[in-house]
Amino acid sequence: MPITLTTLQSRKQNGEKIAMLTCYDATFAAAANAAGVDILLIGDSLGMVLQGHDSTLPVTVADMAYHTACVKRGNSETMILADLPFMANASLEQTLLNSAELMRAGAHMIKVEGAGWLAESIRHLADRGIPVCAHLGLTPQAVNVFGGYKVQGRSEAQARQLRADAIALEQAGAAMLLLECVPSALAAEVTQAVSIPVIGIGAGPGTDGQVLVMHDMLGLSLTGRTPKFVKNFMEGQPSIQAALSAYVQAVKAVTFPAPEHEFSA
Ligand code: KIV
Repeated sequence: MPITLTTLQSRKQNGEKIAMLTCYDATFAAAANAAGVDILLIGDSLGMVLQGHDSTLPVTVADMAYHTACVKRGNSETMILADLPFMANASLEQTLLNSAELMRAGAHMIKVEGAGWLAESIRHLADRGIPVCAHLGLTPQAVNVFGGYKVQGRSEAQARQLRADAIALEQAGAAMLLLECVPSALAAEVTQAVSIPVIGIGAGPGTDGQVLVMHDMLGLSLTGRTPKFVKNFMEGQPSIQAALSAYVQAVKAVTFPAPEHEFSA
């Protein structure tokens, strides 16, 4: 059965964790489907792990559409989520046209990075039939504003803002939230405060699901640096297929993330 928004919503209600992974091509999409991954994210992280850039900023809508179409060809049941890359949502009109291009390429939902200011564009897309996932916390497209890839929401003021943004974006029509690099307690609180599914990366075990960059969880790194929240699922596994299945099982059983992958306030 294909994974739909209704499936994800009932997972949240039943407390069954959602397993998401990034994916950029057809072969890995087929392998992830066989492993039981619920959502494949064509992340603009492809700018770093595929293209070798030092940030996600150079990624274009054409790059995203190409890789979304590749993933679609290998996909059978998994929900396909595609990132709107840097500046592709600079105006409402651009947001709509660029999202439509990614939906035509095969996406079922679009992810946008930002904060409370996303409300208008989320409403614009949702009203026109495009489901949206809002990415909050550490949003890598804003790395130059943050001054590096740093944990967000550690101060009381930041935490209050993040809680308010999450609620405002749900009210604007977001179908899902993604929280990146925020303290576990804050992520768990936000997850309880909204009725839409919340996926975490570096956000602890209290969210409704987890996502990792596929290259990271397979133990591949271009820079030699591995973020604290990553686990290498190739360790002890005989194949990539087995590592993907181990990831899904660990997310569902809530054995990943473990305390060593978490951030505190
Ligand atoms: O681009 C990406 O892969 C992402 C994940 C890190 C969540 O946004």
